[in-house]
This record gives sequence, C-alpha cells and structure tokens, in this order.
Amino acid sequence: MIVCSCAVITDRDIDVAVSEIMSMAPGILPTPGVVFRHLDKKMKCCRCSPLTVSAIYAAMDRLERTTRVCPFALAEARARLVRIEERRERRQRRIDAEHALRSARRDRAVA
Ligand code: FES
Repeated sequence: MIVCSCAVITDRDIDVAVSEIMSMAPGILPTPGVVFRHLDKKMKCCRCSPLTVSAIYAAMDRLERTTRVCPFALAEARARLVRIEERRERRQRRIDAEHALRSARRDRAVA
C-alpha cells in the first residue's frame, strides 16, 4: 500500500526502514522524519504524516511479534514516540485556542 504518494513510499518500505533503524544504534527513534531520511526521501505536502505514524507503529508491532529487535528497545521507543505525539497535540491545541481568542477579539473590535 502506498503511504506517501509524493515520495512514493509504501508500507513495506517503512517496514524495512523501521527494522533497520531499530537495529542500528539504540536511542534513534523512527519518527516520520527519520524514516524518510533513512529512505533518502523528503516530505512535500506532509498530508501523509498520520498514515506514516500508523505505518511506523504497525511496523514496530510486527517487529515485536517477530522478536527481531529487543522488545525493551521497542517499548521505550514507542513510549517516547507517544510522548512526542502528545506534546505535538498539546501545542496544536494551544495554537488553536490562541487563534480562536484572536478571532473573537477581532470580531468584537469590528462590532
Ligand atoms: S503525501 Fe507524503 S509528503 Fe505528500
């Protein structure tokens, strides 16, 4: 299945990349940016980011089942990825709240 149509990356490419990244030095997280760099590709429109994250998690699940990578390293990487995602969501909520507040102030000023 094609995950990124801009860079033409499949879920199989992501599987291989995550496996290679997790087998390299410990501490490297398979974030979408790291996976794309590993595949020597660049994101363009970034619309595939959520699907890429899902494909990365699915690849990590498969690696865990096949025990090709230390399960503790996988669990730690997943926990760090979840924290990064939570931080990104909090930041986005804060930005959305600021935009809503500015819009409300602008509307009040016009009225
Ligand atoms: S669909 Fe992946 S960068 Fe555009």
